Amino acid sequence: MKTIHFGILGPGKIANRFASSFEHARGGKVYAVASRDEEKAKAFAATYNIDHVYTSYEDLINDPKVDVIYIATPHPFHYKQTLLCLRSGKAVICEKPLALNYRQVNEMIQAARTENVFLMEAMWSRFFPATKKVLELVQSGSIGDIKYLQADFGFAAPLNLESRVYNMDLGGGAQLDVGIYPLFLALLLLGKPDEVKSFSQLASTGADEVTSALLSYRNGSIAHVLSSIVTDSPKQADIMGTLGRITMHTPWHKSQLITVRLNSGEVTEYPFPYPGNGFQYQVEEVIHCLRADKKESDLMPHSLSLLMAQVSDEIRKQGGVVYDAD
Ligand SMILES: NC(=O)c1ccc[n+]([C@@H]2O[C@H](COP(=O)([O-])OP(=O)(O)OC[C@H]3O[C@@H](n4cnc5c(N)ncnc54)[C@H](OP(=O)(O)O)[C@@H]3O)[C@@H](O)[C@H]2O)c1
Repeated sequence: MKTIHFGILGPGKIANRFASSFEHARGGKVYAVASRDEEKAKAFAATYNIDHVYTSYEDLINDPKVDVIYIATPHPFHYKQTLLCLRSGKAVICEKPLALNYRQVNEMIQAARTENVFLMEAMWSRFFPATKKVLELVQSGSIGDIKYLQADFGFAAPLNLESRVYNMDLGGGAQLDVGIYPLFLALLLLGKPDEVKSFSQLASTGADEVTSALLSYRNGSIAHVLSSIVTDSPKQADIMGTLGRITMHTPWHKSQLITVRLNSGEVTEYPFPYPGNGFQYQVEEVIHCLRADKKESDLMPHSLSLLMAQVSDEIRKQGGVVYDAD
């Protein structure tokens, strides 16, 4: 079978983790990297044995040997860079969040459909065996009707108002950086909420330092999703049903262990150890999709990216978090 050639735009922090996961991913290789900084691109290429280095994103996009492009730049650049790739006929896996708001995400997805090209949000938590098992347990009714879900993702970022996490021009703020993880889990397991109530505490830049949101469902479920860039948090997810509860142990977004506690007293642990950093699962999903000539992933479909953007917009609106692109 054909080896899928990945090209990387923006070899920064997350691109390092992505590239290093190919050691554990079957069927693909990082074929090329593009950075505006030639020395940075060369150093990245040397670290990960990448043969082709570009100092122009466009040149990498136009390389016919590149099958799919991983966009690893800060959120505000995702929209234009994804559109450029798609309109050049290049498949895209774009870092989370897919874009700053629903309008941009919708336009990107419409472009993928018009151009008939693969597009997937790099919501890497979706592809872990632990996440798949939780979905299977919930869908099979093993813990009954879900009444409450709580999940969090907080970390204490260094106070640097120019940095990506604080600077609004770089998409700063907790909700878009890490809040979308617990939101993703709630939407994956419970679907579209009927009501959202949200609070944010803002830094002087306007970025949300802490955001706490409640999602309410007419069927009787509630989800509480919490994110922070100023405090560490447990990074645990608990899904509570009428027959029992599931814990995705910390860090839940790349969990290696889940525990199911039934009301009957039965406790079952499901360990899911994996080598490396776990990025290989989403890399393998992209390879699988491209080999099958799919234009979107069944596991992380466009509809879920749209829903995440839509609910995230509402959470930000209530919290007073505004980007120029809004
Ligand atoms: N999946 C995960 O676990 C995870 C974790 C962290 C971040 N992320 C996501 O990954 C994305 C990148 O985050 P990161 O922390 O890796 O970013 P980063 O290291 O700050 O930047 C990545 C690259 O983006 C380009 N870039 C940075 N600042 C720019 C600017 N002001 N103008 C134009 N280009 C700029 C640079 O490309 P050049 O090399 O071309 O200069 C840089 O190498 C974000 O959207 C974030 O949400 C995901």
